[in-house]
Amino acid sequence: MSFDIAAVRASFPSMIITDAGLPRVYFDNPAGTQVPQSVVDAISDCLIRTNANLGGFFSTTRLAGEVVDAAHEAMRDFLNAHDAGEIIFGQNATSLNFSISRSLGREFAAGDEIIVSRMDHEANVSPWLMMAEDHGLTVRWWDWNLETFEFDLEQLDALVNSRTRLIAVTHASNVIGSLTDIPGVVALAKRAGALVYVDAVQTAPHIPIDVQALGCDFLVCSAYKFYGPHQGILWGKREHLERLVAYRVRPAGDELPHKFETGTLSRECMAGTTAAVEHFAWLGRTMGDPAGPGRRKAIEAGYCAIKGHEDALVRRLLDGLATMPDVRVLGIVDQARLHRRVPTVSFIRESVAPESIARMLAAQNVFVWSGNNYAVEAYRKLGREHEGGVRVGFAQYNTPAEVDRLLELLHANTP
Ligand SMILES: Cc1ncc(COP(=O)(O)O)c(C=O)c1O
Repeated sequence: MSFDIAAVRASFPSMIITDAGLPRVYFDNPAGTQVPQSVVDAISDCLIRTNANLGGFFSTTRLAGEVVDAAHEAMRDFLNAHDAGEIIFGQNATSLNFSISRSLGREFAAGDEIIVSRMDHEANVSPWLMMAEDHGLTVRWWDWNLETFEFDLEQLDALVNSRTRLIAVTHASNVIGSLTDIPGVVALAKRAGALVYVDAVQTAPHIPIDVQALGCDFLVCSAYKFYGPHQGILWGKREHLERLVAYRVRPAGDELPHKFETGTLSRECMAGTTAAVEHFAWLGRTMGDPAGPGRRKAIEAGYCAIKGHEDALVRRLLDGLATMPDVRVLGIVDQARLHRRVPTVSFIRESVAPESIARMLAAQNVFVWSGNNYAVEAYRKLGREHEGGVRVGFAQYNTPAEVDRLLELLHANTP
């Protein structure tokens, strides 16, 4: 079985939409992907058939409870968590980070240290800076290498000491696309007894996540980046989640995962998240080769099925950009190291502002983002804090022809 782009595109209803006769080219994926029909159906089915609050005796409330349980189970498989109680649903990754930072902060004392990175999206920086301010913690910054576009574990080693309590780091950059060696980070953190908090928002669409293999303590992701609805998901090791004090209303119980799921959550988004997970399993079953029975194996096979396709798109784009002397790619371009990145490519052009490029492409219905993409420290390091760059991010439904269209437009608009 092999990757079938036509079948993938047919599963996403928005692929056939045109604007003023121009087909849409979705390269804005790192900011949010399109959703398959199955996700749309799951959301509307939830709103039609199972629309009630939880904990009652009639059919809709019981069915709503099933939707919630199914979503926790789906994310358990998606992240290979130990149990579904370790999965916390929330509004989005940023809000979950702010929320859990409040609980974690209670465990830290003045003089303790935390490490944040200069590659991360602000969602995994600002909550920790504010927590440090609240509790008198010292903040240390893990830098990355401007030549390799990667972190250096030796530099992290020099930052970790007996006072280090937490290391917050991204699994993949939302701008330069580089991957982080999370098991390497965990090995250093464990020596100091520090917690590792991973932002996997940009890996979830491209790489199967296995929290047990990564060895981290917490990991956050967002369903709308992996073909689901606007919903955040936090995984934490049970021992931590049980120990931590949750900020919750008094009538809410102390059971996991609900003690951290404050207020009334979007059950329709939970239903949609389950469908997004099932979409990966569908890819695995129809286009991949699952290494065994069960949804987790099917999900892993789904990622395998899309990998070659997404990698080929990156190579095509990088080859094309390499022919434009005024273009500088902000990230790994070396063929031998492409496995160290996700298919998100940011670039700049010497004499054209990123915003002008994004506007020019938008006029042709090619969707890209410009600016700093909330990776404030990464762009500050690149000396481009405000104007940032142009970001092209691939998803499973993009095609080589779309990449060629982008390249043609860039060529035609060479200053
Ligand atoms: C790496 C990364 N982390 C966190 C976020 C924030 O996610 P959310 O919108 O779910 O808060 C983003 C959003 O772009 C991101 O790219």
